[in-house]
Amino acid sequence: MASPPIMRNLGKNGPKIPAIGFGLMLIGSPAYGAVPQDSDRFAILDKAFELGATFWDTSDLYGDNEQLLNQWFQRTGKRDQIFLATKFGYVKGDHSKTMQFQFDTSFEYTKKACQASLRALGTDYIDLYYVHQVDNITPIEDTMRALAELQAEGKIKHIGLSMISSTTLRRALAVAPVAAVQPEYSLFSREIEGPEGTDLLATCRELGVAVVCATPLGRGLLSSDFGKPSSPDDADLRAKLMPRFMPENQAHNAAVVARVRAFAADRKGCSVSQLALAWLLKQGDDVFVIPGTRRVKYLEENWAANGIALSDGEETELRLLAETSGLAGAALPEQFLDHKFKDTKEVSF
Ligand SMILES: NC(=O)c1ccc[n+]([C@@H]2O[C@H](COP(=O)([O-])OP(=O)(O)OC[C@H]3O[C@@H](n4cnc5c(N)ncnc54)[C@H](OP(=O)(O)O)[C@@H]3O)[C@@H](O)[C@H]2O)c1
Repeated sequence: MASPPIMRNLGKNGPKIPAIGFGLMLIGSPAYGAVPQDSDRFAILDKAFELGATFWDTSDLYGDNEQLLNQWFQRTGKRDQIFLATKFGYVKGDHSKTMQFQFDTSFEYTKKACQASLRALGTDYIDLYYVHQVDNITPIEDTMRALAELQAEGKIKHIGLSMISSTTLRRALAVAPVAAVQPEYSLFSREIEGPEGTDLLATCRELGVAVVCATPLGRGLLSSDFGKPSSPDDADLRAKLMPRFMPENQAHNAAVVARVRAFAADRKGCSVSQLALAWLLKQGDDVFVIPGTRRVKYLEENWAANGIALSDGEETELRLLAETSGLAGAALPEQFLDHKFKDTKEVSF
């Protein structure tokens, strides 16, 4: 029998939602390879709903995700049963070749982007509205004032911040409540635990802000597929851009992942992806995961991580394995490294 879903409060005053959500990026954006056809995309959304994986994470950046959701809501009439998170801040355009992005989190753009997402989604409210990436010129206070107004108007229920520093979070909270942050966090990307990630995890705990882990499977590193020979997919940017996936690091990193896979199989009778999700969920009641996939079978497998509990000793063993593994290459390309824990411009008087 399937295990009941782990339900957690999103921040100190937030609603109870499933701790295992669903990241929709890959069914809209071709970042890791071809986007599935519509019938498959609807099948995966249907399955997520059927399972109870109703915490959905998208962005106005992820291809036609918001329009796809609009169609799904119209077809099913189930908008009110989904806890829907979307994001803004990247200025739209075709960045797939250059990977040069522009950001805008000004007061005016924040309002405009929210209106555009509401229209695209065909809904009159967003459950969790994140700043996807702050820009270089707007003090976070200006963005937060716009978000607070949107909240007062009922257009967004909760405010989230992605890829920000502890300082930005503190400044934001002085203007309005923040329910969640969304940093990268996985077994092999643990910067938020220490000074390299501005001690963001500790700051969230002090302030009662939930941590929603982006890329909880390390973009597919922590999976049964990592290291397997695959047919080249020109659209998959990982081997071209992400050092951990580059050909020169593949064999070494595959051997590291094989050790985690062996732990999963021998000690927990589960897959490496399930173990990676269970490890994150073990970090605390304030932690959520949003694994992404283009396949129903992986969605089901990830959801079944609800039934995998790690002991303190197992958590520590895995942490030690990750610390001593010598994984080769950074998670992100050089030009994105300073995007992860961003400060914003000071307010000028
Ligand atoms: N805030 C931000 O700036 C930010 C940045 C990145 C991501 N995110 C969010 O985080 C979500 C997840 O990130 P992500 O998709 O980049 O990375 P991820 O969830 O860490 O990994 C996704 C990859 O793992 C594979 N996979 C998933 N489950 C699997 C399983 N059970 N067995 C084998 N392989 C499995 C997927 O394969 P298939 O594609 O073959 O299914 C895909 O290649 C996104 O959808 C997005 O919502 C946010």
